Amino acid sequence: MKRRWSVIKGQPLTEMDKKILAAQKKGFSVPSRNLVHSAEQIEGIRRSGVVNTALLDMVASEIKDGVNTAHIDKLVYDFTKDHGGIPADLGYQGFPKSCCISIDNVVCHGIPDEKTILRNGQIVNVDVTTILDGYFADASRMFVVGGETTPEKQRLVDVTLECLKVGADAAKPYAFCGDIGYAIQCHAQKNGYSVVRELCGHGVGLKFHEDPEVPHYGKPKTGMMLVPGMVFTIEPMINMGRCEVHFDQLDGWTVTTKDGLPSAQWEHTFVMTESGVEILTDRKSVV
Ligand code: MF3
Ligand code: CO
Ligand code: CO
Repeated sequence: MKRRWSVIKGQPLTEMDKKILAAQKKGFSVPSRNLVHSAEQIEGIRRSGVVNTALLDMVASEIKDGVNTAHIDKLVYDFTKDHGGIPADLGYQGFPKSCCISIDNVVCHGIPDEKTILRNGQIVNVDVTTILDGYFADASRMFVVGGETTPEKQRLVDVTLECLKVGADAAKPYAFCGDIGYAIQCHAQKNGYSVVRELCGHGVGLKFHEDPEVPHYGKPKTGMMLVPGMVFTIEPMINMGRCEVHFDQLDGWTVTTKDGLPSAQWEHTFVMTESGVEILTDRKSVV
């Protein structure tokens, strides 16, 4: 959907209005005003991020050989409820569980299951989205079961985290979503990896998935302009082998690599500020 920036009637144009209107005039995609959140809304998302971060810290201590993923899911549900929140995944478009747990060649949206048992050496993504007082925070981390895996899988996990970092560094105020995608794609490919294209980062905060779409590949100065007050995720899915993925038709959710090689993902929720992004889903926010 093409959005337009609307000015507030009867008020002088701010510096931000001027920058956005100039870009809009040149044909760049710009946000609509409702994608720019108020200080109060950002505080709400930040509080949701605090619970989300503590939740992933709790998950970290429970990832062990022999544990089934439905058990982790139950801990996610209980912890979220105990902290006054709601797990956004549960019932979202029919998703049956409270988090996604994606192992090795599973790219994302793995459904927790009693029969899926964690084993030493696996690389595992746990993705959790928390709703607190109506505000959404979305993050995921990689875990290595037992703390040790092959050098190849460890490098994939590490480089994928670097991809998230270079993406966040490219997210400057008045830059574009494509700048983020370009930075990530360059870093992944430089390391011999490929970027999943079918799934993207997204606006988040008042809803689970909102504009802008944040692809993890692309070209500079394409996609939506990012302006202070916007809240969005960056969540690169990086494959060791080819970029193609397969969507499970039976369960309707699980995404795997077509070539069967491992995939990794890290995700944070960010708010754009006047100087760059601030992470709303890391320990810095937990006071
Ligand atoms: N948390 C995922 C994301 O990063 C979305 C999961 S949707 C679910 O956007 F239904 F699978 F939970
Ligand atoms: Co997300
Ligand atoms: Co997520």
